[in-house]
Amino acid sequence: MNVDLVSQEYKRDPGPTLDHLLAAGPVTRARIPIIGEMTFVTTHAAVEAMLKNEALFSTDVANGRNRRISVLLRFMPRNIRVMTSNMLQKDGEEHRRLRKMVDGAFRRGAVEAWVPRIEGIADCLLDDWIASDDGDFVRHVARALPLAVICEILGLPEADRPQFTRWMAALSDAGSLRGLPRLYISLSRMNRYLMARFEERRKRPGEDLISILVHASDDGDNLSDDEVLAMLGLLFIAGHETTTHLISGSVLTLLQHPNELARLRADPSIEAAAVEELLRFVGAVEMTKPRYLRHDAEFMGTRFRKGDAIMAHLSAANRDATAFNDPHRLDLTRKPNRHVALGGGPHFCLGAWLAKAELAVVLRRLWVKAPDVAVAMPEGDLRWTRQSGIRALTTLPLTPTPHAGMKDMI
Ligand code: HEM
Repeated sequence: MNVDLVSQEYKRDPGPTLDHLLAAGPVTRARIPIIGEMTFVTTHAAVEAMLKNEALFSTDVANGRNRRISVLLRFMPRNIRVMTSNMLQKDGEEHRRLRKMVDGAFRRGAVEAWVPRIEGIADCLLDDWIASDDGDFVRHVARALPLAVICEILGLPEADRPQFTRWMAALSDAGSLRGLPRLYISLSRMNRYLMARFEERRKRPGEDLISILVHASDDGDNLSDDEVLAMLGLLFIAGHETTTHLISGSVLTLLQHPNELARLRADPSIEAAAVEELLRFVGAVEMTKPRYLRHDAEFMGTRFRKGDAIMAHLSAANRDATAFNDPHRLDLTRKPNRHVALGGGPHFCLGAWLAKAELAVVLRRLWVKAPDVAVAMPEGDLRWTRQSGIRALTTLPLTPTPHAGMKDMI
């Protein structure tokens, strides 16, 4: 199908393109940068069925037929290869073993205990943003908050955060061959830094997640250093950009829907439902990682061969009119709201409660700190990145108050 899934037009308003994808039936093909032609499942029913069917679909690239991906991985430098061997790429028992090690730290109760600290961090970042010259909400708040929170959960000192910001920037730039050398250097430095922390925590354990992981034993089975590195790499990669773009996309969406924003401000009891609806509507993570067929099979009326790769198009499923009434309308109290923004099945997002808590905190604090916040440029001038799979604003310049020191902005 001839659709452009990275154009500014699509990123600005994905609805029409997603309708087009959905009209082609539950299984369709489209081009995405780097990977090329890809098969997508798009309808809500097909996406749910695929993500839950571990017997037919594997996330392990070794089960794929696409030589390009496996050859690329084989020739990757060790630092990068170690990071790709994480639980998102594992199936069955091996996946459950790794996920069990970190589950406790991301359960609802554990995340709720972090909320006062997340509020404290968010308040400081919002103050920085209000005092800034450029007013860029992505840089000062949406990018900084998830990184600060994951660093705290891991027990990493605040003074080390700027270097993580640089390493993470290299990771998010890695979508092109040109970005690979920088990615390699950043990952080498990050791995060296993390290995030094492992040694410290082995000798002097604390309450943080690194201490838990380096001392984790699952029926006497310890995690190797490579496994802990892969786990931490995944937490940074899966938990950082995703949350950044959920937060910035949600703030923009609310500013574009003043009636819905007014409902939220008037009635904080709708906050949890609003967070779910923003996850559905914003579509920060547009698609899952590929799944590979374990054997020849028919799925949703299409014949597949062993090793074929398919992705679930989460944003399309979240705008499927057979699952959502008036799907292109933002309705902060939508009920029911069985969105798939956080995936589904065994690989359902580990950080779901954390991501929701961070967005809820921003929604709670932003309009207290800046009741008249507004977008500081014509909305048509806002730029989205050309990454496939993630719907990401490059910057979001906001004026905290109508006339506050926005010297360099407009
Ligand atoms: C807006 C925020 C987020 C969104 C939209 C999101 C979305 C997703 C999705 C769609 C998946 C499934 C991928 C697949 O099946 O191929 C996933 C998995 C995962 N997410 Fe998130 N995520 C978010 C935030 C986070 C955070 C904050 C963390 C942790 C700090 C996190 C950690 C993970 C991990 C570890 C997995 C893999 C789980 C597994 O393989 O069992 N995510 N996420």
